[in-house]
Amino acid sequence: MSLSWSSKDQKITNQPAAAGQKRPRNDAGNRVTVVLGAQWGDEGKGKVVDLLATEADIVCRCQGGNNAGHTVVVDGKEYDFHLLPSGIINTKSISLIGNGVVIHLPGLFEEGDKNEKKGLRGWEKRLIVSDRAHIVFDFHQVVDGLQETERQAQEGKSIGTTKKGIGPAYSSKASRIGLRVCDLLGDFSDFSTRFKNLVRHYQSMHPSLTVDTEDQLKKLKDYAERLRPMVRDGVYYMYEALHGPPKRILVEGANAALLDIDFGTYPFVTSSNCTVGGVCTGLGIPPLNIGDVFGVAKAYSTRVGIGAFPTEQLNAAGELLQTRGHEVGVTTGRKRRCGWLDLVIMRYAHMINGFTAIALTKLDILDVLDEIKVGIAYKLNGKRIPHFPANMDILHKVEVEYETFPGWKTDTSTARKWNDLPAKAQNYIRFIENHIGVPIKWVGVGKSRECMIQMF
Ligand code: GDP
Ligand code: IMO
Ligand code: MG
Repeated sequence: MSLSWSSKDQKITNQPAAAGQKRPRNDAGNRVTVVLGAQWGDEGKGKVVDLLATEADIVCRCQGGNNAGHTVVVDGKEYDFHLLPSGIINTKSISLIGNGVVIHLPGLFEEGDKNEKKGLRGWEKRLIVSDRAHIVFDFHQVVDGLQETERQAQEGKSIGTTKKGIGPAYSSKASRIGLRVCDLLGDFSDFSTRFKNLVRHYQSMHPSLTVDTEDQLKKLKDYAERLRPMVRDGVYYMYEALHGPPKRILVEGANAALLDIDFGTYPFVTSSNCTVGGVCTGLGIPPLNIGDVFGVAKAYSTRVGIGAFPTEQLNAAGELLQTRGHEVGVTTGRKRRCGWLDLVIMRYAHMINGFTAIALTKLDILDVLDEIKVGIAYKLNGKRIPHFPANMDILHKVEVEYETFPGWKTDTSTARKWNDLPAKAQNYIRFIENHIGVPIKWVGVGKSRECMIQMF
């Protein structure tokens, strides 16, 4: 299958230095291709990354942790990745976990071992881990659960986190008391002292928290040795990759725009920047090296966890999307909430990320519907608002204006090119790209690699 790396992904061309000039030439290097979630997660990022990863030299994760759950279906086998970049399947490419990721070491090794049983080979040799990445400890995961219980008791609502310790680990990082991979691999006695201080810090906030410190340290020491061969200075590794010979470098976003700590539906968000800025800070690369930014969106909307969801359908249409789409969380097994596609959030995600193209997945799930709706604007007190509201009370109050499309009532799962799609489905797709102002490059009509129609 011809793939989708454009000339933009190749070396950035520079103006040659003027004759006689002594100033160094700024060799800006290769560009990375970025895949980001444009809704509330689970859009099919893993599948898009897998498609591109077959031709990639390096596949990177830059943020989030094992709260992510990315599914890849190859040769009828379903793999799910949480911390490992989905490109790990490709035996010819290197996978990199950048400094912006928070790593739960037992989770990382369990994930690798589990996928090994499904046929994944040699992943430890293909994985590079940044020495600046922060560590998620088991007690961070316990604290995540305790904080959820407290939120429920105090405000009557939890966030519905994945309980993978993501919020507490990023809190430790921001409070400057966190521990990084480089600390684990350094002087273990210093690491142990700082680990014990960190445990005390959390125990002072959560008196019910018990931690078997010695047992934890013993396990961490073992993990350190298993991890050591994979660890590099991530900034230098990326610098060399960007400035060496032409390389295809892919960045796999985790979570999604509406879960971003700054731009998402705060506080019902995750704790990292899942938008394009997180690529630079999470890998230590300059903005000039960002090439294509592909937004991934489902042909409808889903959300796991609590928080505003203006186009949610608590009715038969929502139930149909949930069951037909098998909308169950990969990480937590929770049912995903379902609703119509919301082009207000897609435009908002585009304002922040500057998508160069979109992958629209799961079109096939809409095949049986009589009519399909798409949210095109939010109204407050009867008037359209041009922006996406920051305040959750306001977001709960908006009235969604919909455009209604007739269903195509045809099986699209065997379509492999644009002309195979029914005219009504083509019409639906064209409306979406025109409304957002971004071309749709792929349309997903099934789980496997072949079920991706490439438009250009
Ligand atoms: P991610 O977190 O964005 O990588 O997405 P998930 O893997 O959590 O959820 C997406 C689900 O949809 C997975 O089960 C995929 O196998 C499945 N999927 C992806 N694209 C398509 C598609 O075009 N059609 C169908 N039917 N399923 C798809
Ligand atoms: P992928 O990469 C869907 C949601 C959780 C919760 C909120 C905060 O598979 O798209 P956290 O554990 O991060 O503190 O939870 O964010 N969430 C996701 N929802 N897909 C994800 O990742 C998610 N990662 C976090 O459900 O509402
Ligand atoms: Mg997912």
